[in-house]
Amino acid sequence: MIQVKIFYAHNDLRNFTYLILDKDTGNSWVIDPWDEKPIIEYIKKESLTLTGILNTHHHHDHIRGNSGLQSIFKCSVLCKEDHHIKLPDHHLIKFLETPGHAPDHLAFSWQRGEEVLALFSGDTLFNSGVGNCKGSGASVEALFETTNRLKKLSDDVLLYPGHDYVLKNLQFAKSLEPENKDIDEAIKKLKDVSTEDGIGWTIGQEKKVNPFFRLDSHELRESVMRDHKNLDQKNLFIKLRSLRDTW
Ligand SMILES: [Fe+2]
Repeated sequence: MIQVKIFYAHNDLRNFTYLILDKDTGNSWVIDPWDEKPIIEYIKKESLTLTGILNTHHHHDHIRGNSGLQSIFKCSVLCKEDHHIKLPDHHLIKFLETPGHAPDHLAFSWQRGEEVLALFSGDTLFNSGVGNCKGSGASVEALFETTNRLKKLSDDVLLYPGHDYVLKNLQFAKSLEPENKDIDEAIKKLKDVSTEDGIGWTIGQEKKVNPFFRLDSHELRESVMRDHKNLDQKNLFIKLRSLRDTW
């Protein structure tokens, strides 16, 4: 049985680290380790083996715990050429190239055969937002293409992003779509969510509240294009990303 253990970092960047574990074999893989200590503690307590490290991209806050974990568990860091990890019962973790926030960015899709169950999206897709394009090699055009690809995933795919930026992202979304009741509802429901357990949203929920998934929303288009008439989808996305940068 495959499970996901969430580690919330309690740092200013509000990082999430994930441990994918196979209960039957005891094998586990960590995604984007911030602090190695709680991971080491958990792996030892549960008698697991750390089989490999996955990093969505090279930014410091996503690889910070790599060396500490490698020195203890002697495991390797997997890269895009590894393509996927095979798990029992036709489960697999597939590596997807998702450039935009960083040129080397990968997302990891947890699949049963062709059916995608969850997406570990790093800094590409957040709850109600997308990653910034300020770092070296970032490309907002590439992020637009990547976001469009991720939007095609099934509604019930669970999203595991690299950070908890959900409240600020929802407030930004609300400023663009004040009439969107799903955004009000999402803000209200956040009060019952413990960040420790993750936000627990699906791609379907993102389609309701994430402005970068909602380029067809009339209200959003009106808000963004007040001063910039007739933007196509790509330029609307670019404008949206720059508005979020200064919001
Ligand atoms: Fe990053």
